[in-house]
Amino acid sequence: MQEHVYFIEGDGIGPEVFAAARPVIDAAVAKAYADSRKLKWIELLAGEKAHAATGEYLPQATLNTLQQAELALKGPLATPVGKGFRSLNVTLRQTLDLYACIRPIRYFQGVASPVKRPELVNMVVFRENTEDVYAGIEWAAGSPEAARLIAFLRDEMHAVVDPSAAIGIKPMTAKGSKRLVRRSITFALDQGRSSVTLVHKGNIMKFTEGGFRSWGYAVAAQEFAEQTVTETEQDAAPGKLVIKDRIADAMFQEVLLRPEQYDVIATSNLNGDYLSDALAAQVGGLGLAPGVNMSDTLAFFEATHGTAPGIAGKDLANPGSLILCGAMLLDHIGWHEAADMIHTAMHKTIAARSVTQDLATQIPGACAVGCRQFGELIAQHLA
Ligand code: NAI
Repeated sequence: MQEHVYFIEGDGIGPEVFAAARPVIDAAVAKAYADSRKLKWIELLAGEKAHAATGEYLPQATLNTLQQAELALKGPLATPVGKGFRSLNVTLRQTLDLYACIRPIRYFQGVASPVKRPELVNMVVFRENTEDVYAGIEWAAGSPEAARLIAFLRDEMHAVVDPSAAIGIKPMTAKGSKRLVRRSITFALDQGRSSVTLVHKGNIMKFTEGGFRSWGYAVAAQEFAEQTVTETEQDAAPGKLVIKDRIADAMFQEVLLRPEQYDVIATSNLNGDYLSDALAAQVGGLGLAPGVNMSDTLAFFEATHGTAPGIAGKDLANPGSLILCGAMLLDHIGWHEAADMIHTAMHKTIAARSVTQDLATQIPGACAVGCRQFGELIAQHLA
């Protein structure tokens, strides 16, 4: 069996973290399945490499291929500042309708963390990626557009807004919320997880955030009635997936105080942005955090860090995020044995305290190794 994986190396540290990560992913597949399963890697151009070859940062050919693809993996892409470029990442997300941003957050023993029991954190955040205040509909304070909208709100809707205000719009739909929650529930069921928590600020924004909550419960009740229960029903139906909800501000306390009670989290765009970074910090930072952006057809895995221009080309970068993206990809296609091997090897390598510089400075007694060598050590720990 062969799965096609399209890949974009990315800019800055992208090529070196890719060169370190890909052999680990291939070695895990070979170790788990000998020759019976293989990944076939096909490169696509984007970023600086694409610009050098074609004059464009995001060639149409790359987008066309991704529109037909099912699996892709990318390194970080630089956003050229002040040259009138939109972020390539945002363009990719919008053009390919990558509506679900998924970030697993787990702790690796030995990594420095600001909390007492980081090992209790094992969550997967599903963040809606296309709606909410990120839709980019806003007008500056004092602009004619803001004045017009404020006048409309006053005259037609009887809503009083300070005339000097900047104005933003927060659109959230049943369709957008439901497809995200549907995806999170499907994932939780596939992976044998215990709960999905809908995180919202519906006590204040009743129709947008409150809508997310009620649309989420509606998906569970209408499409997964047999497999799910609400929190109040759970005692009567042990073993079923529990659907619960928390108000966003309370959730930030909950993940610090009672992380063991939370598993899969489904949330709107802005809440998800804050919560996934806060959770990553809780287990020791973004350096080891993988992620994926998904449409209905494409799972586009990406390192969550940037291009780190300060250390690019110096063999100092941590390839961990991309390696764990590879494990996520393998889980996604059902090659769980290979994915588990990568996680175990990562745990062992960090426990042996031979790690890249970013981790070595946080782990007492650790020895710093280069990007390539860290990948090699992880490959050696595959078993
Ligand atoms: P950054 O993540 O590149 O760097 C922040 C800090 O973390 C720096 O000190 C860097 O050296 C360090 N760092 C990042 N990744 C590391 C790794 N794998 N190993 C060791 N150290 C690492 O974020 P920054 O500086 O805000 O952005 C730089 C560029 O990356 C910008 O052009 C930005 O637009 C782009 N970017 C791209 C992303 C993507 O493609 N998904 C995500 C974030 C930023």
